Amino acid sequence: MADHGVFFALLMSEEPAATERRQALEFSRGFAELFTQIDATKPPECSDVQVFVNRVVEAMKPLIDYKARLGEAQESERLRSLVWPLFFEHTRHGAERWTRRLQALAGGEPELDRAEVVKFWSNIMVEHARFVAHLLDPNQFELIEKATNTGKVFAELTRGPGGATRTTLREPGAIDGSLIQNPETDAVLGAAQTMLDFKTEFARNIEAARIKSIIDPRLADHVCREALKFIDELKRAV
Ligand SMILES: [Fe+2]
Repeated sequence: MADHGVFFALLMSEEPAATERRQALEFSRGFAELFTQIDATKPPECSDVQVFVNRVVEAMKPLIDYKARLGEAQESERLRSLVWPLFFEHTRHGAERWTRRLQALAGGEPELDRAEVVKFWSNIMVEHARFVAHLLDPNQFELIEKATNTGKVFAELTRGPGGATRTTLREPGAIDGSLIQNPETDAVLGAAQTMLDFKTEFARNIEAARIKSIIDPRLADHVCREALKFIDELKRAV
């Protein structure tokens, strides 16, 4: 959430969006502070989980509202920033899911539902791939195509039974075979690993200025960490 605020601000110039930019940076500071506080204290005892969760969920509410409001404003051109509407929607979906996840934890239900994990994160991966393609220098034809295809894999995989076979036929190498025991259920894990490898190499190339783009290294790092989170949740899901 702290990163999202920074990304919005980076894509908003002072002249058409001074207020929205200031608010984005305020959200970023607030969540960075919340993170520091959480990181400095021990995990809550069972009896304190509800209070702990409420604090984070309450902090998230105005940010969710901001993302929804500005997404609509950008779509209707009342806001003229460089944050495209899907970016607002994408980051709002992330915040809403975290709210649901935290509330489930507070309700004593820590299990992750595999179908939900696959559906949510696959969509996030497709959108990340589109964001990367969109922010590359228009001359980087090959990378734009590679990013787009890496994203398409998830759309194909989650489009009903037989997804793994269809994907392998269309995009050989899209699924990391070393992780596959059961082709249908492990294919998503294999594709997530391929996606993480792509993003990790990509982030290193951004940092070393080997790629022409308008991608901030913090954004490259952020999408890497989300792929890592996808893999982590997949491994723990039932
Ligand atoms: Fe994110």
